[in-house]
This record gives sequence, C-alpha cells and structure tokens, in this order.
Amino acid sequence: MRQGSHSPIGVFDSGVGGLTVLKALMAHLPHESTVYLGDTARVPYGTKSGEVVTRYSLKNAEFLLERGVKLLVVACNTASAVALPALEAALPIPVLGVIAPGARAALGRTRGGGVGVIGTPGTIRSGAYQRELEAADPRVRVKARACPLFVPLAEEGWTTGDVPFLTAREYLSEFARDGVDTLVLGCTHYPLLKGVIAEVVGPGVALVDSAEATAEAVAALLAERGGLASAAHTAPTHSYYVTDVPERFVEVGARFLGRPIPAAEQVDLTF
Ligand code: DGL
Repeated sequence: MRQGSHSPIGVFDSGVGGLTVLKALMAHLPHESTVYLGDTARVPYGTKSGEVVTRYSLKNAEFLLERGVKLLVVACNTASAVALPALEAALPIPVLGVIAPGARAALGRTRGGGVGVIGTPGTIRSGAYQRELEAADPRVRVKARACPLFVPLAEEGWTTGDVPFLTAREYLSEFARDGVDTLVLGCTHYPLLKGVIAEVVGPGVALVDSAEATAEAVAALLAERGGLASAAHTAPTHSYYVTDVPERFVEVGARFLGRPIPAAEQVDLTF
C-alpha cells in the first residue's frame, strides 16, 4: 500500500500499555489517524529475551506496514530497547521508539545530573536508557531498576492505596538516597502509577513520562517532514488490532487510553 500524508501512524505494543503512548499522540496530533496493534497473545515482552521480542516486533511492524502506515511508533519500552535497530533496518518508513525521547527529556529536567530509570527487566537489562543517557551527557549518573510488579498492578487498576504504595516504596526508596533528582518512567504502564511513585520519591524528584516525550518527538518529526503531516481539516480514524480475544483489551485499554475503545479486531500473526 502507498503511504501519503493522509496515511495513518502505526503504533504497536505488547498489549494495552502502548495506549498511554497513543493517548499522548492523540492529544499532540489530533488530526492524525492511527492504527494500533496490541500483541496480546504474546504479552508480556518485559520478561522475554531480546531475540524473541525482536522477532515479535518485526512481525508486528510487517502487519502495520501492510495497513499502509507512514510512520511506526514502537510504543513499548522493551521492544524499543531491544528491537529498534532491527526495525529501522527492515522498514522503509521512519521508526520512532520511546527510549531516545525519554532520555532526552530526562536530561532536560535534571539539575544535579542524577537520573533514575525504571522499567521492565528486559528494558533495564538491555541498558538502552543507560546508554542513551550517558552518550548524550557523559557527566550523568544513572541508576536503573526493574519494577516488574508495577505492570500487573496497573492492569488490575490498583493504582492507589496500600498495595501500590508499599510496592513503590520497596522499589524506589533507594533512588532518593542516591541523589536522583529525575526519574524516567521507562515502561508504558507506569504513568498510571504516577501518583504513588511521586508520593514515594517526593517533590524533589521530577518524573519523566516517556509517552509524552515520544508524542512530542513524533510531532517534531512530522513538522520537520512537512509532506508527512496530515491536513488539519481531515477527520482522523483510529483502529485497533489485537492478537488474542479483544474483550480484556477493550475493557482495560479504555483506562490506559482515557477514552472508550469502540472495538478491536483480532488478527492472527502466525510465525
Ligand atoms: N509495554 C511493556 C513496556 O513498556 C510493558 C508490558 C510488557 O512487559 O509487555 O516495556
């Protein structure tokens, strides 16, 4: 299919999480159409090897490319951390991940140079945020930690109260001690837990939402390549695809997206 300015932006994630990125994209680029793919049959990506996540990511990208997307947003921190070079090499369209925009935003916020990064085990193990931050500013001190329990808490809707608070305290109290003044929420699910995370780390630590930073990066890329942005008078369309039954995605996803998901179509990405 041929791409043009009217073509949609393709967005994929392992499941519902990338909807926080889609939400930010819709807010920043209200005229752009989108096609979202949640690989719900293979979620989670955060505990899988880089090799496997790269294989899944390439398949997701191929599916979106067949839908004529003009740009691909890898709305999953784990997939961005491990599969971005393979996706960039394989695709004939621009590919944006969430890591570089998140890292840049953190460097813009830190005052003392202490930056914390939290994410899935796969994201933290890959060292992608750490590399990006240190390459951009060698003086930065990075402290990274995987916080795997945040993902099920966000999906269950347990975003306030004792359980998320104590979990956040267990994971994060050491960040304040280590002189971190900026914390990157390096996982799609963590923006939903912003309240408890902020409560634990305190007002002296700025929280950086990779989803917001990525939406800004996509908007900048479209502005830079004038011919790629959709005309302001076009009414956008938003479609959703999943690789397992859609019921849970539609229900849980509405919370992540901040608006109802009218329907999601199940597709089979066989390997
Ligand atoms: N979307 C994933 C991420 O941002 C979190 C969920 C998963 O592990 O698949 O890393």
